[in-house]
Amino acid sequence: MPEKIDLFEAIDTQRGIRYFKPDPVPDELINRLLEAAVKAPSGGAKQGWSFIVIRDPETRRKIGDLYRAGSRFEIGTDLTAQVRRAYGGAQHLEDHIEEVPVLILACIQADPGTTPSAASIFPAVQNILLAARGLGLGSVLTTRQTRFEKEIKQLLSIPDDVTTMALLPIGFPADGTRYGPTRRKPLEEVAFVERWGESWQLGSPGYTSNI
Ligand SMILES: Cc1cc2nc3c(=O)[nH]c(=O)nc-3n(C[C@H](O)[C@H](O)[C@H](O)COP(=O)(O)O)c2cc1C
Repeated sequence: MPEKIDLFEAIDTQRGIRYFKPDPVPDELINRLLEAAVKAPSGGAKQGWSFIVIRDPETRRKIGDLYRAGSRFEIGTDLTAQVRRAYGGAQHLEDHIEEVPVLILACIQADPGTTPSAASIFPAVQNILLAARGLGLGSVLTTRQTRFEKEIKQLLSIPDDVTTMALLPIGFPADGTRYGPTRRKPLEEVAFVERWGESWQLGSPGYTSNI
């Protein structure tokens, strides 16, 4: 196991990694990711999740065939440079998906007559992303496998009442690929205090911290 990093260092530096070394990922590390996944909360504690670890080169090749046949990202000049970079990287990943050593497909089982609950799988997916960062691995949340839901379910023998929710590529980051810090909108823009529009600021009036 690699040296442990602080939880907040992992949160602050976890970012989308889309370029990977071809090196295999030891089973112990994959197992740690899965253990982290199942520590997540789920609605009603139902744990309707499942995670398929895909390493077989033939299966990855078949998934690669699906991705190559699918729609490509539209990287228009109207997009910001940050989004253009992300789409460029995302397209590279899809063009090379079969070369990623491990793919984890996160799925959820829906109760009869209900729609599958994203809220009950994405906490587990986020745990995998953070655990990967903690173990020196890279990953990125992707959802575009939904374009081939029928084909992927057939390929992997996934039951009818189970839906694929995210495909996580897992591997060691390629040379020259770095973790964050990530760039995000400032807190004042997205966090409010007491009511919509009142920017949250450390030390906002109305509350005295005892720390
Ligand atoms: C719902 C959702 C779907 C996403 N789908 C994809 C995807 O299909 N391909 C991809 O490369 N990244 C995908 N991402 C990752 C985002 O593009 C990424 O979080 C964003 O670019 C920020 O990147 P950063 O964490 O590296 O700053 C997705 C993220 C979310 C939350």
